[in-house]
Amino acid sequence: MKRVLGIETSCDETAVAIVTEKKELLVNLILSQQEHAIFGGVVPEIAARAHLNHIDVLVKEALDKSGLGFTDLDAIAVTAGPGLIGGVLVGVMTAKAIAAVHRIPLVAVNHLEGHALTVRLTDEVAFPYLLLLVSGGHCQLLVVEGVGKYKRFGTTLDDAVGECFDKTAKLLGLDYPGGPVVERLAGECTDHARALKKFPLPAPLVGKEGCDFSFSGLKTAVKLTVDKLPDVIQRQDAADLCYSFQQSVAHVINDRTERALKKYLALCPEQKTPTLVVAGGVAANQMLRKGLEELSARYHVRFAAPPLKLCTDNAAMIAWAGMERFLLGMTDPPNFPVFPRWPLDPDTVKMPS
Ligand code: KG4
Ligand code: ZN
Repeated sequence: MKRVLGIETSCDETAVAIVTEKKELLVNLILSQQEHAIFGGVVPEIAARAHLNHIDVLVKEALDKSGLGFTDLDAIAVTAGPGLIGGVLVGVMTAKAIAAVHRIPLVAVNHLEGHALTVRLTDEVAFPYLLLLVSGGHCQLLVVEGVGKYKRFGTTLDDAVGECFDKTAKLLGLDYPGGPVVERLAGECTDHARALKKFPLPAPLVGKEGCDFSFSGLKTAVKLTVDKLPDVIQRQDAADLCYSFQQSVAHVINDRTERALKKYLALCPEQKTPTLVVAGGVAANQMLRKGLEELSARYHVRFAAPPLKLCTDNAAMIAWAGMERFLLGMTDPPNFPVFPRWPLDPDTVKMPS
């Protein structure tokens, strides 16, 4: 049975995992760097150094925990981009060294493909499916036609949705990453109508043609709202603002995804089980998930999402994408490069990835 070790170091998670072709997750180690909390965002240089300090220990721990040696591995999969390039280089050089010493095939994985294929590790989902990828760096709607085959319907014209959650949290003096904290606070809002009336926020591009996203206007609106609040923000105000913010995000996401769903259904009439998959860190948000579940039900489309711990960055997704590629013979030479930007759909390189 084939086994692939995956390495992920493209942002602020140093992660190592091992999966089998039978979809067993033998080990899944994630070290979330705490060094960035005081900065309210990830500092690339600090991230790269922290990856370097931890990656060897994590690889050893992964092998020890799974009772395997390097020679039991059939391939090493590693994130080769997109991401913070100092961190990516640490992971890639580690993978290249292991592969060279132990003569193991290498697979260079696109981080976004990792998110896109995770659902096939935890569920039976056949191609083609519609993917909503929502994370700290990305916000896209794509049809996943196969391994390495993507058709992008829309992307963000400015900021990613996770970044917008993080910025909102920062403006309110809350911790990083902002998504989980904003969601928790929104849950404390006791009077939804009051919150929406007190803090009305825009839902950019809703009702407009196409499937693109825009969040910079919402970010600015949150900033202008916070500027008008007293220096010490009451918890009730923060909860109401988080609720209103989350509603706006949900409104945008549902509107854009509904348009993409119609396009997907028209494009893929042969798919017997049309499926909407949501992936990426923001997919951990229960309220957004609920809206997407309802949308899918309205269109008689199956809804699938990886379990929460596999939504945010991890190495299981890289190991699994590596496995899918390896089984198709898609390995890479030892001198493969890294890619700070690497869109899944090459036809759309002009847009931000
Ligand atoms: O996929 P991910 O771990 O890293 C990237 O590739 O960007 O996503 C991280 C993002 C952060 O912006 C974080 O605030 C957001 O996902 N996030 C959430 C939630 N949990 C994480 N956003 C909204 N609600 C959540 N529960
Ligand atoms: Zn990610």
